[in-house]
Amino acid sequence: MSDIMTAPKIASMKGGRIVCVTAYDTPSAQMADEVGVDIILVGDSVGNTTLGYENTLPVTLDEMIHHVSAAARGCRRALLVADMPFGSYQACAEDAIRSGIELVKAGAAALKLEGPYVDAIGGLVAAGVPVMGHIGMTPQSVHSFGGFRVQGRGNKADLVLDAGKKIADAGAFSVVLEMVPAMVARRITDELPIPTIGIGAGPDCDGEVQVWHDILGLSAGDPFKHTKRYLDGRQAITDAIRAYASEVREKTFPGSENSF
Ligand code: KIV
Repeated sequence: MSDIMTAPKIASMKGGRIVCVTAYDTPSAQMADEVGVDIILVGDSVGNTTLGYENTLPVTLDEMIHHVSAAARGCRRALLVADMPFGSYQACAEDAIRSGIELVKAGAAALKLEGPYVDAIGGLVAAGVPVMGHIGMTPQSVHSFGGFRVQGRGNKADLVLDAGKKIADAGAFSVVLEMVPAMVARRITDELPIPTIGIGAGPDCDGEVQVWHDILGLSAGDPFKHTKRYLDGRQAITDAIRAYASEVREKTFPGSENSF
């Protein structure tokens, strides 16, 4: 059997541990792929991590297409999932199918969209495009949540579960659970037939997704509670650039070994 990850293989990993990380360009996708992650997500978090936007809302379909095609050129084995940006699927299923096809042509093997847009999910699935859902704190709804707040606390847990059930019934192969209490995530994971992939959702989902810049310490400011820095990337990179700048100023670089 081929080693290449597919949406049906991910769907069959219910009860397992799916590893997903975001990537937005060719070298980062190559590195994640070489390590053997299961899913590379070209998230619309490209907006805040890479493009200098405040949040994911301004990200356009053209920007997603640009980053998806770059990441696809670095991805050989992992399942490449692309986020559908805000405005590309909410109005109607036809919009979702048209935008989705553009992302697939750019190299995505599956798409992710936020919330129980069941007609959009069903339409994409009917068009042959695997869909990953996203529930809980869905960043494209940040204004209606009044900020990036944990969702599904207390009697709101059923709302998140219901959204997950609708998404699974519409044909999604997996669902991201973002910023929900660990107990609620465990219950949703138990009740849904498709794998749950957590971020800020405790240890009991069927997998985990993290943002490239967060785990590598490339984001400015304090780390989020739901992430862990495996590298102080910002420090390492600024130290390296500082060393380069001082060697250029002191004329110790380039040396004879760098000259022709
Ligand atoms: O855009 C993104 O990176 C995401 C993950 C946080 C799940 O949607």
